[in-house]
Amino acid sequence: MSRISLKRLAQMKEQGERIAVLTAYDASFACLLEQAGVDVLLVGDSLGMVVQGQGSTLPVSVDEMVYHSSAVARGSKRAMVVADLPFMSYANPEQALHSAARLMKEGGAQMVKLEGGAEVVDTVARLAGMGVPVCAHLGLLPQSVHKLGGYRVQGREAGDAERILGDAKALQQAGADMLVLECVPRELAARITEALAIPVIGIGAGAATDGQVLVLYDMLGITPGKRPSFSHDFLAEHGSIVAALEAYVTAVRDGRFPTEQHGFD
Ligand code: KIV
Repeated sequence: MSRISLKRLAQMKEQGERIAVLTAYDASFACLLEQAGVDVLLVGDSLGMVVQGQGSTLPVSVDEMVYHSSAVARGSKRAMVVADLPFMSYANPEQALHSAARLMKEGGAQMVKLEGGAEVVDTVARLAGMGVPVCAHLGLLPQSVHKLGGYRVQGREAGDAERILGDAKALQQAGADMLVLECVPRELAARITEALAIPVIGIGAGAATDGQVLVLYDMLGITPGKRPSFSHDFLAEHGSIVAALEAYVTAVRDGRFPTEQHGFD
């Protein structure tokens, strides 16, 4: 069975079929997630927080991303595997190429994700030029948490919103194949989704995006502490992990998740 391709994701956007994405960090969950119908397994550097117990994603290394990505790739057959380039592993285009090559060759990823706007456009162009599928990430950038002064909604001011929209267009132009939009007002997410030809995957970005992603442990209610307001505990509602995963995929596909309460004005 072949994996979901970029062409299939583009077709899903075109046909208005919503894309279900979840983070995955190991082989067993990767297998369960794709059996539940998840289209894209994101090996997020959120693993630094939910698996390693770090205070942020910053300490995660390329070696650790390779380790988790290869486990997810081994545990799955159909879903696309996207792996995060961790903090400071893509500080210039050549370093990004080297790190991406490791995630793809050793980690078995089909796409890499990196955070940032105008400042990473050249890097995205370099990766795309060398045949590396790229997922961009705008809005709340967890790797920039210290610069942002916390995990806050981004793009509420008109100037910020225009900058994020401009960055999204520039990243697509540079060759990005997909965009994750994190914690931005619903209206801005809707404008960006409408403006781009590539699939836009939201998290805390309202219901108008082409697909949704959540951190697996948040949607199972097992992340210690307070759950983000844009997430939902599907395990508490559905009683088993398999039922929770299936309910998430169905709710995303049917447009029942996220609801109004999972977005921001
Ligand atoms: O690292 C991660 O899990 C992510 C998602 C929150 C989109 O980037």
